[in-house]
Amino acid sequence: MALLVPVVLATYVSLCAFASAIPPLPHIPAIGQRPLQLNPQSSLDNWLEKEEEIAIDNLLANVAPGGRNVRDAAPGSVIASPSRKHPNYYYQWVRDAAITTSTLVDLYADDPFDYLSSNLVTILDAYSSLQLKLQHTNNPSGTFADLSGLGEPKFEADGSPFTASWGRPQRDGPALRAITLMAYLQAYNASNPSLWTSDSGENWFKPFYSPEMPADSIIKADLEYVSHYWNSSGFDLWEEVEGLHFFTAMVQLRALREGAELARAFNDHGASAWYAEQASALERFLPSFWDSQKGHLVATLSSARSGLDCGLLLGSLHGTPSLNTTPASLTPLYPPHSDEVLVSLLALTRDQRARFPINSAPPPPPPSPADSDELAGVGIGRYPEDVYDGYGTAPAGGNPWFLCTSSAAEVAFRAAAHIRSAASLALSPRGMPFWEALLPASRRLEPGTVLTPRDEVFGEVVERLRGLGEEFLAVVRRHADGEGALSEQFDRVTGFERGARDLTWSYGAFLQAVRARGRV
Ligand code: NOJ
Ligand code: NOJ
Repeated sequence: MALLVPVVLATYVSLCAFASAIPPLPHIPAIGQRPLQLNPQSSLDNWLEKEEEIAIDNLLANVAPGGRNVRDAAPGSVIASPSRKHPNYYYQWVRDAAITTSTLVDLYADDPFDYLSSNLVTILDAYSSLQLKLQHTNNPSGTFADLSGLGEPKFEADGSPFTASWGRPQRDGPALRAITLMAYLQAYNASNPSLWTSDSGENWFKPFYSPEMPADSIIKADLEYVSHYWNSSGFDLWEEVEGLHFFTAMVQLRALREGAELARAFNDHGASAWYAEQASALERFLPSFWDSQKGHLVATLSSARSGLDCGLLLGSLHGTPSLNTTPASLTPLYPPHSDEVLVSLLALTRDQRARFPINSAPPPPPPSPADSDELAGVGIGRYPEDVYDGYGTAPAGGNPWFLCTSSAAEVAFRAAAHIRSAASLALSPRGMPFWEALLPASRRLEPGTVLTPRDEVFGEVVERLRGLGEEFLAVVRRHADGEGALSEQFDRVTGFERGARDLTWSYGAFLQAVRARGRV
């Protein structure tokens, strides 16, 4: 019960989850008006406000039921992009779908009773039903019987298995899906307070979590998968490298931690202890990703690559619950405000600034002439060695990605929000390169000091982090198309959009960054 604290709210007629046939929704009304004329002079605030509406609308366009781009997709599918060729992204990736759906859960939780939310509940229930079905679908990664099939990274839009060769298994999917569905249970329960204690509640929760073994409920199956396979190698989130990965480990850790709490709420005490035990083992293993010689985290163990990777940012963001009120027991080793994540952001940003010609265009004038431009917001790609240009591979083919640039912004905003609410900042030797790059050289910072709001520099740190996040968002703005659409990448030389158009994840990552900005 601890997790599912009922909130007293007006009664709300719940839509029956897992209704076998969810009628197709009429087209979800456009929230933003398109096409939209963007005034290049308007402030970032104005642009963000408009772009937020466009992003929600374009994201929902790729989600069934209801989405205008996915009329032939199974209800509950989240398609990576409407692009069916050059490149073909008209599939449902477990990762992209879970990440996008967690954004929808956040929107629902913000205001469970508004008009958008009633559509969202239909989508979230359809997503849940479809994921249960996909879990049971035999596929090239394996079957449901031994859970190996849960490592399958993507399915056809109609829910049938994708059988061509691919980088599989990918072990982040079940963890991300469990995180998303646990958040949905919490949000739904909070807005339907009588559910937890009523008989109909038992039926509502059962397909999501029930203690019985072999696991047959969606979340429990995912948690069993994660708890048994987290130390086996698999493909990374970019679907290219086999090994053990920071991103995957971070989301697995969060799933197991929150899963242990959830199991306890369902009186599944043996499972709760098992998930907690595996979480502790995984947390003891995570410091292997810190490379003290390089001075940053690395994305994959024993890899020939530099290790700098947008997956480090994403692992921290998705591995850390986003509320500042999160109990310390659920805060992982490497949250966005940690020294390790911030110095990795610094190293990645420096690399990408030097690597991509569009990033060396003169930056907007700094607030004061003494300011260093050491750490300015630039376009961020997946990783330095990337050769995927959005359509195929080419030498030096990598480009900045919208979702990575937005994630860099989100790290800065979440770090700022955390530091402000903690009201203290310890300047440890490990984090010094970041703080020195963030603040003007004239600021003398002593490693070992603890800053509090009484120090003038404390407020400056928070403001500069916010400013840094906004610079990254300004890059997204600069490269979005005239109607606010976001593809996967933008060209390293021309700055124009490349790769799959209207990438669902690009919109989700943007929306999450804007939310995080709101909390600073
Ligand atoms: C598609 C994959 O999803 C992407 O991550 C990869 O870089 C390209 N194929 C090229 O292999
Ligand atoms: C390629 C990316 O590398 C991968 O992370 C993503 O899941 C797919 N595209 C679909 O968006």
